[in-house]
Amino acid sequence: MRTVYYQVDPVNPDRGVLAEAAQLLRQGGLVAFPTETVYGLGANGLDAQAVAGIFKAKGRPSDNPLILHIDTPDQLNNLAATIPASAQALIDKYWPGPLTVVVQRQPHVPNAVTCGLDTVAVRLPDSLIARELIRLAGVPVAAPSANTSGRPSPTTASDVESDLAGKIDAIIDAGPCAIGVESTVVDCTTPVPTLLRPGGITYEMLLAVLGEIEVDPALAGTLTAPRSPGMKYTHYAPVAPMFLIEAGQQSPALLLQREISKALAAGKAVGAIVSAEIANTLPPQVITAVYGPQEQTGVIAANLYTALRSFDNQAVDVIYAEGIAEQGLGLAVMNRLRKASGYRIIRE
Ligand code: TXA
Ligand code: MG
Repeated sequence: MRTVYYQVDPVNPDRGVLAEAAQLLRQGGLVAFPTETVYGLGANGLDAQAVAGIFKAKGRPSDNPLILHIDTPDQLNNLAATIPASAQALIDKYWPGPLTVVVQRQPHVPNAVTCGLDTVAVRLPDSLIARELIRLAGVPVAAPSANTSGRPSPTTASDVESDLAGKIDAIIDAGPCAIGVESTVVDCTTPVPTLLRPGGITYEMLLAVLGEIEVDPALAGTLTAPRSPGMKYTHYAPVAPMFLIEAGQQSPALLLQREISKALAAGKAVGAIVSAEIANTLPPQVITAVYGPQEQTGVIAANLYTALRSFDNQAVDVIYAEGIAEQGLGLAVMNRLRKASGYRIIRE
């Protein structure tokens, strides 16, 4: 399949180009598009066959449900059986934005989207390009991150290209994504809403609206294997094995230096994903990706997946990643780093 490549201005997009991409979606095609979080791989969310194409192109496990993207809040009424007060409060505050709510679904929402669950995940993105595309398509757009399953999510159109060129109908390039980690997923069907995936809307921001929120047990435990379906697969992984250094009694800086010295002494080619503060303390032969200054979690989130992908074409045998504090976007960053490491965590 030939993949059409559209370039658009993120602020003042060519409506004709977006209309052409929307037409592809209506015809059952697969179109990758930018959102404020990561690039998504879109299909008509009411067309089960088109949605099946997403799973095929990504190599996505068939039991991991998709998010439906809408362009006005009232469209949730066409998808949700009921809208719990918690969902309404979150939506009022954080839509459009990097927040996905899980609600009971209406019967017409395809099983292809929900993988047979009686709930559906819905999001109204802030990205102008995303909203215009959805508006022009005139249907809810099912869209997971536009990466090959298991790989780091794409934050640029060229990331999408390297994973999916030739497998999808089109890619809309509107430059890099501002937030860089995926939306926060909140299950609003439980008596107390449950955080399923930390993301662009922080835990602190959820608490401010809800007063109380449960955290899925799979997120709470750092060393326990994740339990719920869709969380059991490898995610975000670079090609070489990665170890995550977390702060414990010992500072991550000391642990990093020790582990890296051992690996170098064993003759290994070593990569490191670290803060700006740590970068210049490492031996020169270490191939280093800097994600930003330690305190700036927003910058780190925006650079995270590019840093993880930067080792794809480098001959490293092992990668060490420096953990950060779990405040603000730090919670989402640490969640992705833990998964990317396959829970190979060093903490003393
Ligand atoms: O920021 C984002 O959310 C991006 C952009 C493209 O919008 N999309 C994204 O989709 O990250 P994906 O498919 O990579 O992640 C969707 C997450 C998965 O963890 C999935 O298990 C969960 O949402 N999910 C979807 N439907 C669900 C449901 N009914 N119940 C619980 N979790 C659900
Ligand atoms: Mg994904």
